[in-house]
Amino acid sequence: MSQSDQDFAFGTFADLDFYKIINSRLLDIAEISEQRQIVDLGCGDGGVTKLILDRLQAARQSCIYAIDHSAAAIKEAVANIGDRKEAAVKFIQGDAANLREKLTTNVDAVVYCNSIHYVPDKEKLLNQIKGALKPGGILAFNSSFYEGGQPEESLDFYRKWMMKSIRILRREYGMMPRREDKVESRKQLTPDDYKDLVEAQGFKVKLTEIMKVQVPLAGWVEISGFRDFIEGTLPGVPLKEASAALQKGAKLTYEDMGIQFVNRNWMSVVAHRTS
Ligand SMILES: C[S@@+](CC[C@H](N)C(=O)[O-])C[C@H]1O[C@@H](n2cnc3c(N)ncnc32)[C@H](O)[C@@H]1O
Repeated sequence: MSQSDQDFAFGTFADLDFYKIINSRLLDIAEISEQRQIVDLGCGDGGVTKLILDRLQAARQSCIYAIDHSAAAIKEAVANIGDRKEAAVKFIQGDAANLREKLTTNVDAVVYCNSIHYVPDKEKLLNQIKGALKPGGILAFNSSFYEGGQPEESLDFYRKWMMKSIRILRREYGMMPRREDKVESRKQLTPDDYKDLVEAQGFKVKLTEIMKVQVPLAGWVEISGFRDFIEGTLPGVPLKEASAALQKGAKLTYEDMGIQFVNRNWMSVVAHRTS
């Protein structure tokens, strides 16, 4: 992986309060506390792995498998988890689409935060997760990139942000996005679509919760440095220039609108493997 690929490999939101709150909420409603073996799928920089570690009551007997396909993310997660020794944490570089090959055991829970919207073949992914879980095992995932993630009152922000970013891109870099290069995260599913999808793959959805959160400017600046988001928002534009335009565009939009945050809906889904 080149240096520039590494720079855009994963999100680094871990220290933003709103982000900790939504991921903690998912772990709460999924009742992650007593499981012995848990997968943190798409672990990124290990922010969610830490939240799981904080909750494990039988920590000494527990093991977290922190899995990400990005070598840079795994490296960062190893550094961030540091010397926390409450539970064993095994870091595995691997693709979620081949999860079963990466695990030698069936686990009690799979936690999949802020990533499912990027996966093109969700049926295959869910089938892999099902195969990795014990019967009755928990699947918990969340996302704000679903149909309904942008509440009405936030739409003005997105319109202005995108207009400014595209203007910056054109003026400062002489570039334009190519809409035909649209990626999977832009084709969004509704909460009901997710329920149907999950249940068709051998799960029973226990609950779907929508939580409205206030995203500060730092949230948009961080996400503007993340490859999957950049490719979905400004398709076909080189990552460095697209990221710079999005970050500057977000700052200018907050200034122009005189706002401190933008509302966003986050969907959390908790399901059990049925058979
Ligand atoms: C937005 S970050 C979320 C990180 C973490 N789960 C969180 O909520 O803070 C998405 C992560 O999923 C990883 N990822 C994306 N597609 C993946 C795949 N097919 N297999 C494994 N990891 C993947 C990315 O490398 C990235 O680290």
